[in-house]
Amino acid sequence: MPVGAMMAKDSFMVTAGGKTAPGPLFVMEKMWKGFNEESGNWKYTMVMPDGSVFGTTGGKGSANVQFCADCHSAVDDQDHLYFLPKEYRTTSN
Ligand code: HEC
Repeated sequence: MPVGAMMAKDSFMVTAGGKTAPGPLFVMEKMWKGFNEESGNWKYTMVMPDGSVFGTTGGKGSANVQFCADCHSAVDDQDHLYFLPKEYRTTSN
């Protein structure tokens, strides 16, 4: 992905009683080379349903979103992205 690319994924929760509620918003932003090599220079941000930010890579609550980078690094051979729709995929950077 080029620098500045952003990916956002919404989510919802289902309780044991079958009720649903909004879940966190998951955001990835491609930063400049050297921002954070370990995360593939992706900035991970988790926004809670009330609008508060749980954490953002390299900023407030950075440790809270380390697990994002850890799991997404399993697919570092495809720019740390999992199931991006085929029409948005490229074979080069
Ligand atoms: C245990 C592994 C795991 C963790 C932890 C994780 N993700 Fe993901 N993420 C996935 C998988 C698998 C997908 C693709 C399936 C889907 O969209 O649900 C995905 C998809 C995404 C996408 C859509 C782009 C893509 O790669 O397909 C974004 C954006 C995203 N995650 C952000 C985050 C953020 C932000 C965090 C931390 C708050 C996080 N993820 C934590 C496994 C993980």
